[in-house]
Amino acid sequence: MAERKTVEVIVEKQVKIPKKKTAKDPKVTEKRKILFVASEARPFIATGGLADVIGSLPQALAKDPTYDIRVVLPLYSEIKPEWRRKLAFLGDIYVPLSWRNQYCGIFTCVQDGVTFYFIDNEYYFKRPNCYGYYDDGERFAYFSRSVMEILPFIDFYPDVLHCHDWQAALAAIYLKTEYCKRPEYQFIRALFTIHNIEYQGKFSMDILGDLFGIKQEDASLLEYQGSINLMKGAIECCERFSTVSPTYAKEIKTAQYAHGLQDIIAKNESKLTGILNGIDVCSYDPSTDGALFKNYDAENLDGKRVCKKELQKMLGLPEKDVPVIAMISRLVSHKGLDLVKAVAEDMLHEDVQFVLLGTGESSYENYFKDLASRYEGKVSANIAFNGDLSRKIYSGADIFLMPSVSEPCGLSQMIASRYATVPVVRETGGLYDSIKPYGAGGNGFTFASCNPYDMLYVIHEALDAYKNTEAWKDLMKKAATTDFSWQRSAEDYKKLYEDTYTSWQ
Ligand code: GLC
Repeated sequence: MAERKTVEVIVEKQVKIPKKKTAKDPKVTEKRKILFVASEARPFIATGGLADVIGSLPQALAKDPTYDIRVVLPLYSEIKPEWRRKLAFLGDIYVPLSWRNQYCGIFTCVQDGVTFYFIDNEYYFKRPNCYGYYDDGERFAYFSRSVMEILPFIDFYPDVLHCHDWQAALAAIYLKTEYCKRPEYQFIRALFTIHNIEYQGKFSMDILGDLFGIKQEDASLLEYQGSINLMKGAIECCERFSTVSPTYAKEIKTAQYAHGLQDIIAKNESKLTGILNGIDVCSYDPSTDGALFKNYDAENLDGKRVCKKELQKMLGLPEKDVPVIAMISRLVSHKGLDLVKAVAEDMLHEDVQFVLLGTGESSYENYFKDLASRYEGKVSANIAFNGDLSRKIYSGADIFLMPSVSEPCGLSQMIASRYATVPVVRETGGLYDSIKPYGAGGNGFTFASCNPYDMLYVIHEALDAYKNTEAWKDLMKKAATTDFSWQRSAEDYKKLYEDTYTSWQ
């Protein structure tokens, strides 16, 4: 009882304490401190688009000298030795996780002006893959708690704790349910970013106390439809939450896109923003990219022809001047692969070549392998995750197909554009926000409904446009010069950080 009273007194006090002045105040020289919490980041470890964002947004923000940007990641054994060698050991602590007390080694390095910290525990992270284990809940609970526990050790109490996806959701939840009661943590505000609402971190209620160390009185924050739902918990606990495009921010208010969370999104709507991702335009630069057969830029696209010929040669396709349509995608249904399956053979009636790169569900992998064997010399199916080949395809193809059923942001359409490969996309999420229809003076081709024949219709439109060499060249230039850099979005994030920091619920 006595203990409870103390907590209440602290909470009361905390609300009354005047807010720290913002960096905008001329009298305050202190930097705005942001700590990213995420489960992957390039160049260290990548399984998807999240790693691209965590490997480029912090760097873009760090260019502003009034910001101190740091990132925490798990130290997976999968991180390649060339990166591991760059890490310095800072020390170790023990992290309480319910009744457990777990070792936590802390490593660090500075990459492009951003300080990275790595949480080392071989029991949790010495595994062949980043995700997909029976104890993923425990692994990322440990990671999230470690993030909260290392702050005194690294002497960095951020203004905004920026947590990404369900793997980092518990950091925002622990902050709200526990750590904010400690004086050093009381000014930290949480921003939670959803990169894909499909993956929510759902677990049985049985493990709430025993694994996550959450008290029964806080259960309702995490509970949703009879299970623990970490994404729901973070949405409830954070001061602000965001997603990776303005259109996806609208879409997730509807049952069609929200994977069951629409009511929670609606309830917390006033805290929600959508900011379109950018890409790392230095890494994805056709004029310098070392993976390309020949470099080129928007002003002189000659090298792209070499890239196409060499790609055809490499993939065993005839070196003909026919449109090369490419897809680089995880092979899962929300990427719109059923639309492709429905009309692939109609598309292949045309004089085109089709190149696919990706891995995923075996039914799709088998479908594309079979298609390639039946359309030898027209279809190349590369069932792999290969960064070098992806860059050769981005540069060597003419048309980039991305018919996603849902797409929070999508980065491939931006990378393809940068390499002057014209996107054909479905109008959803970030695809809608980044690609505008050619007919209306835009930078690609778009279709609205999830209908394979609507997709086929715009593919034909693109193939027709391709025949008009001059007009196509202009379209390639338009795609290649669309600004997908982080600069604009970084400004929006800075506004969101200010808004998050100056809020208090
Ligand atoms: C997820 C989304 C993708 C987005 C990426 C980075 O992978 O599915 O649309 O671009 O996160 O935010």
